[in-house]
Amino acid sequence: RDLYAVVGNPIAHSKSPFIHARFAEQTGEPVEYRHLLAPRDRFAETVRLFVAAGGLGLNVTVPFKLEAHALANSLSARAAAAGAVNTLRFDGERIYGDNTDGVGLVRDIEANLGMPLADTRILLLGAGGAARGVVLPILERKPRSLTIVNRTAEKAEALVAQFAAAAHEARAALTGGGAGLVGSSPYDLIVNATAGSLDAALPECDARAFGRGTLAYDMMYGAQPTVFMQHAKSLGARAADGLGMLVEQAAESFFVWRAVRPASAPVLAELRTMLA
Ligand code: ATR
Repeated sequence: RDLYAVVGNPIAHSKSPFIHARFAEQTGEPVEYRHLLAPRDRFAETVRLFVAAGGLGLNVTVPFKLEAHALANSLSARAAAAGAVNTLRFDGERIYGDNTDGVGLVRDIEANLGMPLADTRILLLGAGGAARGVVLPILERKPRSLTIVNRTAEKAEALVAQFAAAAHEARAALTGGGAGLVGSSPYDLIVNATAGSLDAALPECDARAFGRGTLAYDMMYGAQPTVFMQHAKSLGARAADGLGMLVEQAAESFFVWRAVRPASAPVLAELRTMLA
């Protein structure tokens, strides 16, 4: 069997081994997928040992996505844009770094939740690592506009500068700044990429941004709807959590390693049941 793993710290809670075991069963690919705890100061060494033991690929999670980006000697365009790597593939001397998070988000919204992003108005809340990772895949879907809003306005402005050329190519209007930039009519899609849901804090956002036709998407997930989802629903919007993104980024990583696309829907349904 070919060996893969998810590496992070902590890692015991990760659902990736479950997801990839299902993908392997489903596709018949001879994949063995484990979890790997790396000491905080020994990421590169842990990776080297894994490769020496015959490992062919890794998923990378908190707090090592930036280190994985630095470790790779070859990067996909989307990993370079994200500045972070969640998928490593090893062949010989080559350490290929990719990032499947953004595509995972886009595929969950378009394929699972049924909202094509072409020509939509999108509001992205947050400008940290999670937000940066999804900007390019969103722009590639050619939305009419993407507004990035962050508590620290300068970080949103920096993302606009970084992605100006990609936005121009997509003919999408890209703007960014503080909460004052949020429009006063409903968006088609609002993505919460702030770390706020973890401590139940809501990012500042004009209530008029949420309407009946709005999909409010929280990258976080849990057994209960997040505070952001509850807030969005109270304003009449449809709300979704990030569990589908988790499964879709895994499916894309599986494809990067095996060139085979697993079916995500049954695995997502199973995870949803387990979470409840
Ligand atoms: P991640 O990799 O999860 O994106 P990060 O890079 O630390 O983590 O970014 C966290 C994001 O959540 C940032 O956009 C941060 O806003 P600042 O850039 O102003 O710090 C945002 N965030 C965290 N706590 C928040 C809160 N209580 N209210 C609003 N935004 C918050």
